Amino acid sequence: MGRRVLVVGGGGREHALCRALSASSSIDEIHIAPGNAGTLHYGTNHDVAASNIEGLLALAGDHEIDFVVVGPEAPLCDGLADRLIAVNIPCFGPQRLHAELEGSKLFAKKAMDAAGVPTAEYDVMDATTDVDACLDARSHEPWVIKRDVLAGGKGVVVTSNRQEALEFIDKSIQSDGHVLLERFLPGEEASMLVVMDKSGYVCLPASQDHKRAYDGDTGPNTGGMGAYCPAPVITESIHEKVLQRIVHPMFTHLSSMHVPYRGVLYVGLMIDAKGDPYVVEFNVRFGDPECQVTLPLIEGDVGELLFGAANDTLATMDVSFKEQHALTVVLASEGYPQSAIKGRNILGADSSQDTAATWISHAGTTHDAKGNLISSGGRVLAVTSIADSLDKARDLSYQRLANITLEGSHHRTDIGYRAL
Ligand code: AMP
Ligand code: GLY
Repeated sequence: MGRRVLVVGGGGREHALCRALSASSSIDEIHIAPGNAGTLHYGTNHDVAASNIEGLLALAGDHEIDFVVVGPEAPLCDGLADRLIAVNIPCFGPQRLHAELEGSKLFAKKAMDAAGVPTAEYDVMDATTDVDACLDARSHEPWVIKRDVLAGGKGVVVTSNRQEALEFIDKSIQSDGHVLLERFLPGEEASMLVVMDKSGYVCLPASQDHKRAYDGDTGPNTGGMGAYCPAPVITESIHEKVLQRIVHPMFTHLSSMHVPYRGVLYVGLMIDAKGDPYVVEFNVRFGDPECQVTLPLIEGDVGELLFGAANDTLATMDVSFKEQHALTVVLASEGYPQSAIKGRNILGADSSQDTAATWISHAGTTHDAKGNLISSGGRVLAVTSIADSLDKARDLSYQRLANITLEGSHHRTDIGYRAL
């Protein structure tokens, strides 16, 4: 008999997880909390917020859930995995101790120092620091300032404007007590998702996100406006360096602790002009929208892979990847990322038009009282395609996107441009 899985979250990433799990013969039933209008297609949505730890535990018990897959970071930082494991429910997603890798930039820096992993040098500044002197010391490059709290993508400012830097530093010290200033790393970014447990790890093909709102990497930072996989910036030799210098040392470091890391370690990379990789950030979950383009390239049963990682059996698994390319384009609401206008009708996003090559992941969608599909978030949906070449995947995604209407919406027209 197949397994019952509970997926926690309600964005495009969770829709992508549900799609992959539903195609897994090891999975019988999918429950989602809270889900969105798209996840309904794959299982049962439950009106329990991802932040409601007690509600999630009750849900897992009531439905005799065999394992839980946690999409977002916040419940992991709040100890959801610890609570589930305490009642013998395996969890894909690390315990609180390791979730700090995303929850605290300083914790992540210390872990990298301990593991000998290359990352930008940094200063910690607090109310006693001569901030002007710190800024002067790094004034030959943009200042990279990072809050040391979970900030939902709004915790980092990269700027050459001294006034903006000073204001962000001041505000952060007032609210958090301290803030990090780090060396600016020039280069090209890529994301490597590493599925990990006590027994070993599996690197999924590297992908590239597009974090700025507008074409040509301009405009404000967003959660991610599109992605593609594999990312050719990670050549075979760079991949080898990432393994030797980053992934393996981190696995050794994390494995030395009393609690194993079980879930996905998202390694945000900067590749410099010499082809040397540095860690920009760790996340303790799948990226969104990286998840949408990475899962479809996994050959075989994704449910088995995630269950294996939740149960420390990864080392016994043989995971391979399709020789194909995936590309996803995010459709965002008017005003996103500053202040998204929600509640508008979405036309042309019917899942009956999904094919094996092109499909929609819902993110900020819901149904109104009449059953119409409406927008309910900043990032509304993403169109993903998979094909034998990246330009084919791009064409398929943009063709499908052209048939979707949402008043005032915007999307990038250049997803994948660095590789195409
Ligand atoms: P983070 O939340 O740490 O990923 O930072 C958000 C974004 O800021 C990253 O995706 C990078 O584009 C940029 N960034 C962060 N740290 C650095 C750095 N040290 N050098 C250059 N860019 C950075
Ligand atoms: N796409 C970036 C992230 O998930 O953090």
